[in-house]
Amino acid sequence: MPHNLIEAKTISKKEVAEIMALAEELRTSKVSNPTNTDKIGGLLFFEPSTRTRIGFEVAAIKLGCKLVTVKETKFKDTMTEPESITDTIKTFNPLLDFFLIRHPEDNVFKQITPYANKSIINCGNGYNEHPTQALINLYTIWHKLGRLDNFTITFIGDVKYSRAAHSFIKLLSYFKGITINEVAPSELGMQEDEVRGFELNGNRYKRLDQSVWGKEDVVYSTGFPPRNPSGEYSQEIRDKYKITVEIADKLSRDCIVLNDLPRIDEIDQDVDDLDCAYYFKQNELGLFVRMAILKKYCLES
Ligand code: CP
Repeated sequence: MPHNLIEAKTISKKEVAEIMALAEELRTSKVSNPTNTDKIGGLLFFEPSTRTRIGFEVAAIKLGCKLVTVKETKFKDTMTEPESITDTIKTFNPLLDFFLIRHPEDNVFKQITPYANKSIINCGNGYNEHPTQALINLYTIWHKLGRLDNFTITFIGDVKYSRAAHSFIKLLSYFKGITINEVAPSELGMQEDEVRGFELNGNRYKRLDQSVWGKEDVVYSTGFPPRNPSGEYSQEIRDKYKITVEIADKLSRDCIVLNDLPRIDEIDQDVDDLDCAYYFKQNELGLFVRMAILKKYCLES
């Protein structure tokens, strides 16, 4: 049976704990090739990606499995349309053992899951979800704080169109004693139904115009996604929701700043030299989460 990782809500709390434990085991293990597999996966990336694509490629090499890359599916200038994604899946179903897919459309997985008989990992789709990034964010917090309960995190930037933030808030809802402070333009805040889902477990979601910096354990800079359906972001907005050295100076001593990268201008480069700058560490730790995801969802099913 395919073991898909498409939406955060389909990952149970138990599975989250297993992925965290497996990532930690892989990080601390000295075994260089901890699987004995002849499986071949497909990287089907229909949008640019640096971290997720290369991160999974390196993770696969370290696990001893192979990946092939499908960069685009339009193969003749005379074709007026690219081949459909369902045809691509039907083509590769018999050849590949699992699919790692990034796609610009929000509903792409509804289209293709009926045709795929191999595990699918969502590597980011439209404005919808980016569950592997959310798992990396959780693991980074656990690595730094040593817990996933009882902490305060500030989401700053365009929260509404950040696909990783949608997956992240769903995973955070499994834990207790969490406060999310949202610092975002009112039209770019988290959707109300997602906030209600997060608060069901007794967690708190506060919408703030300005953060009261210094109270949080983690700052999650969502940045401003390259394509925003509601138009361009003004320079005023970009400046207002930017992490600067002045803001970093106000954070508590152990607070960490996360960002999924690529960073555009949402965090000043000067912040990189400060102890709170954890976004490159977050990506480094991502390798072990990606290895854990491949092992659990693609190599063991
Ligand atoms: N964080 C992330 O998804 O980065 P890429 O777009 O480079 O994969």
